[in-house]
Amino acid sequence: NVLSALLTFFFFFFFFFLVDRFLYAMRLHDDQLRDISARFQAEMKKGLSAESNAAATLKMLPTHVCSTPDGSENGEFLAVDLGGSKFKVLQVKVRKEAGRVRRSVEMQEQTYPLPKELLIGRGVELFDHVSECLKDFLLQKKISLEKKHPLGFTFSFPCQQTALNQGLLLNWSKNYWARGLQGKDMVNTLRQAISRAGGMDVDVLALVNDTVGTMMTCGFDDQHCEVGLIIGTGTNACYMEELRHIDLVEGDEGRMCVNTEWGAFGDDGALDDYLTEFDRDIDAASINPGKQCLEKMVSGLYLGELVRLVVLKMTKLGLLFDGRVTDALRTKGKITTAHVAAMEQYKDGLKNTRDILLDLSLNPSPDDCIAVQHVCTVVSFRSSNLVAAGLAAILTRIRQNRKLKTLRITVGVDGTVYKTHPQYAKRLHKVVRRLVPDCHVRFVLSESGSSKGAAMVTAVAQRVTARRHQ
Ligand code: GLC
Repeated sequence: NVLSALLTFFFFFFFFFLVDRFLYAMRLHDDQLRDISARFQAEMKKGLSAESNAAATLKMLPTHVCSTPDGSENGEFLAVDLGGSKFKVLQVKVRKEAGRVRRSVEMQEQTYPLPKELLIGRGVELFDHVSECLKDFLLQKKISLEKKHPLGFTFSFPCQQTALNQGLLLNWSKNYWARGLQGKDMVNTLRQAISRAGGMDVDVLALVNDTVGTMMTCGFDDQHCEVGLIIGTGTNACYMEELRHIDLVEGDEGRMCVNTEWGAFGDDGALDDYLTEFDRDIDAASINPGKQCLEKMVSGLYLGELVRLVVLKMTKLGLLFDGRVTDALRTKGKITTAHVAAMEQYKDGLKNTRDILLDLSLNPSPDDCIAVQHVCTVVSFRSSNLVAAGLAAILTRIRQNRKLKTLRITVGVDGTVYKTHPQYAKRLHKVVRRLVPDCHVRFVLSESGSSKGAAMVTAVAQRVTARRHQ
């Protein structure tokens, strides 16, 4: 018994060591993260300046959202959320309850299927589908078709905005590649589709990135929320920047929310030192090679695939499953990010790992399961480390902007990876606190934040429009 315990112990460490050695390049130390963070800060500066913006990978897009919620938001709004893991239509009611400081938000939402063909088909068809779903929603929820409804559009792709209700699509990201929309105004495109569908009176008042929606939703309850973060199918962050630093927008007073589009960090080679052969393979097999470098190392669309590529390589080298590769293991997409989360589950992780590997027609030994679980940990840990490095850059910038010794700030977070991976959030918080000890950060999960926030922004837009017409 003692011998078998010793043997188990030995094998456990042997495999741990083996996988660890193999994945050495994916383990990032704090010094490396600080280096990445410094590169990140330099790139943010480059993106904000008019001269260097064109060459910058961080596009630092002005969002024309100039304040976090101030409590006067009120009314009923529609929201459409396109570009996350789910396509959703919502109705959001924002109310200030009489005699109470707190306001309430009521929401009804419906998720609609979004066939894969639409993501890579004709843009017009994608938007026709969106507006047909909107119409269905109004009918299903018995929302008056006669009344005019203000709508906020959460559109989670990089858009160049000259106003809140205008935004040219710069490029697609994630798994979208619909034809004929690049360079077009997404608000107009939606308006036209809504009028083609007919029978609705909808006023598209705001175009909002999901990061901005997330920040605004969280800001509704917490005045300190000045950063929005998404770690889901894609990854990105926004934050409140001093207007005087945003060359692309006139004015010097106050702040504006900037959408960093940080998924593109590294597209100029800034992360080359840290890329592994697996990252290069992911990129080569993607629909946008050479684009969204950081996103491909971090987000949910790729984490499962990264794990699969590592496991495949290790198997081919005879390090796993006695060197026996199956067709399933060779097939793109067979390991998903949901699998990675399941394999890293606290209690059932190893059992889940075994089930998942059996489903891939593999015949895992207990050591194989431990090794694969460890691969998952290394891959998902690298993801949270990289997000921490980016966030540290943003927080440091805000602190320096405000000439503060210590910064107290809240980060609103949404996204499937952050929400569903059992250890992701905890690891992220810990590393951020280590990288920027002079920032006291509160992380707030912004449930449905990206869609709800569009309604908040719309509420502000409506108030401003109403004032202008008085
Ligand atoms: C992609 C998009 C970005 C979005 C992010 C998270 O990176 O380009 O706009 O915020 O995914 O959904």
